[in-house]
Amino acid sequence: MDMRAHILVVDDEEYICTIAQNILADHEGHHVTSCSDPAEAIRTIQSESIDLVLTDMMMGEYSGIDILRACQEHQPDTVVIFMTGHPTIENAISVLKRGAYDYLVKPFKLESLRATVERGLEKLFLQRENVRLKNAVSLYQLSAAMGGTVHLDSLLKLVLESVIAEFDAGLATIALVDSDTNELQVQAFHGDWETISGMPFLTGKDEIPETVVETGDAEIVKDITVENANTDHGRDSAKAAGICVPLFAKGSVIGVLSFVRFGLIRPFTTGDLHSISIIAAKAASAIESSMLYDELEDAYLSTIRALANSIEARDNYTRGHAERVTHIAEMLARGIGWGEDEIRWLRIGSTLHDVGKIGIPDSILNKPGPLTEEEFEVMKGHPETGSKLLEGIPFLKPIHPYVLYHHEKWDGSGYPKGLKGEEIPVEGRLLAIADTVDAILTNRPYRAASVMEKVLDELTIFRGRQFDPYLVDSFIELIKSGSVDLDSLYGFDKTELDENRLAQERISDSVR
Ligand SMILES: [Fe+2]
Ligand SMILES: [Fe+2]
Repeated sequence: MDMRAHILVVDDEEYICTIAQNILADHEGHHVTSCSDPAEAIRTIQSESIDLVLTDMMMGEYSGIDILRACQEHQPDTVVIFMTGHPTIENAISVLKRGAYDYLVKPFKLESLRATVERGLEKLFLQRENVRLKNAVSLYQLSAAMGGTVHLDSLLKLVLESVIAEFDAGLATIALVDSDTNELQVQAFHGDWETISGMPFLTGKDEIPETVVETGDAEIVKDITVENANTDHGRDSAKAAGICVPLFAKGSVIGVLSFVRFGLIRPFTTGDLHSISIIAAKAASAIESSMLYDELEDAYLSTIRALANSIEARDNYTRGHAERVTHIAEMLARGIGWGEDEIRWLRIGSTLHDVGKIGIPDSILNKPGPLTEEEFEVMKGHPETGSKLLEGIPFLKPIHPYVLYHHEKWDGSGYPKGLKGEEIPVEGRLLAIADTVDAILTNRPYRAASVMEKVLDELTIFRGRQFDPYLVDSFIELIKSGSVDLDSLYGFDKTELDENRLAQERISDSVR
C-alpha cells in the first residue's frame, strides 16, 4: 500500500515543525505542510485535503482542540495526533475521547514520532480501503439492479433507497427537469414530505439545485438547520449536511439528486462525493433509458387502448366491460398475493383481453338476440385474433395469456385450444372468473342480495368445471371477508337494474 500522505504540522515552536519536516518529509517521503499560526492551519484544513494532523496542545488563544474540531467538521476521516509538553492522564483521556488518534509527549524521540504517524496512517488507509470496497460492492449491486429495472418509478425508488442506505441520509429527493417548463420537479422522495417541503434545496425550487443544473457541478451544502424536522426525538430543529448532485445524460443535466444527513458534525467528504457521482452517473443513464422505455410503452398502450375503446364503442352491450373486468381481476390477484409487476401486466392484459373482437362484424357483435352456431363460431375467433394482433409488439408478450386463454375451461371444454386444468396459464384461469362475474352482474334484473347470491351460486356450480377450483375458493373467501367489493363497482341499489333480457342472453352467449 502506498502510504505517502499529506501531513499538516501545527506548532508555534518552529523547531518542532523543522523536526517533523525532516523526519516525515525528507526521510519518509510524505508531503508536509507546517504552520506556526493555528488560524492559518484551520484555513488550510478548510481548503486542502489533509490525511494526518500533528498539533500542539496549547498555542496562545488557540488549542489543539480547535484544530481537532476543524478537522472533524471539514475532513472527518483525518487522523489527529496531539503533541504536549504537559501531559496529564485527564488531558490524554479527554483528547482521545474527543476523537484524537493518539498523543506524543514532548520532547519525543524521533522514532516515536515516526512510529505513531505510521500507525495512524495505516489505520486511515485501511479504513479508506474498507469504505472503497464497501462502496464498490454496493455500487456493483446497485448497477446490476438498475439494469433490471425498466420502469421509472421503481428505478427512482431504488436509487433513493441506495442513497439512504449508503450515505445514512435522512431525506432524499430526485427532481427531474420538466421539458416544457425547464423547471425542476420532484419525481421521487424518501423521508417526511412535510420536512422536505420546508427545505427548498430538496424540492428543486432553490438556487442551489438550479446552479447545479446550470453548471453541472455537485454542491455540498454545509450547516443546514432544519426547522420542525421529524427527528428521533419527535419534531425538533436539527442540524444537517446536504449534497446536490447533477444527473447527466448525453451531455446535459436531466435532473438533480439531493439528500441530507442529520447530525451535528457530519459533513460529506470528497470520498463521499466520488461515490455519489458514480451512483448519479449510473442512475442518470438508467433514468434516461427508462423514460424512453416508458414513453414508448405509453405510446403503444394508448394506441391499443384506443383500439379497445373503439371495440367497446361498437358493442352496445359490453360498454365498460374491460374496465370492470380489470377491477375484479385485480382484486382477486391481490387477494391471492400477486406482486406489483404481475398486477401491472394483469391490468394491461385485462384491459385488452377482448381486443380480438375488432375482427367481429357489427352484425354479430351487436345482434339483438342469441347467436346462431355459425355466428358463435365467428365470435369464438376473438382470442386468437387478439393474440395475433399483439404478436407484433414484443413488450406486450406477458399479456398474451390473458388474451388467448380467457375462454378456456378447467374441464377442457373451452376455446380456442381446449386446454385442461393447469395446462391453462393462470392468467387465463383468473381472467375467466372476472370475465364471467362481470357478465353475471351487468344488465341483470336481480336485486342486490340476489345478485351476490347468483355470483356465488354460479361460481360454486362451475367450480372444477369451468373454473379453477382454487381460484373460485379464494374469490368466494375474498367476497365473504369483504376484501372484494363488488357492490360499489356495480352500484347495486340502482332500481333499474335493467329489464333488457336480450342483453342478458347476448352477454351470456359471449362468455359461453
Ligand atoms: Fe372474450
Ligand atoms: Fe370479456
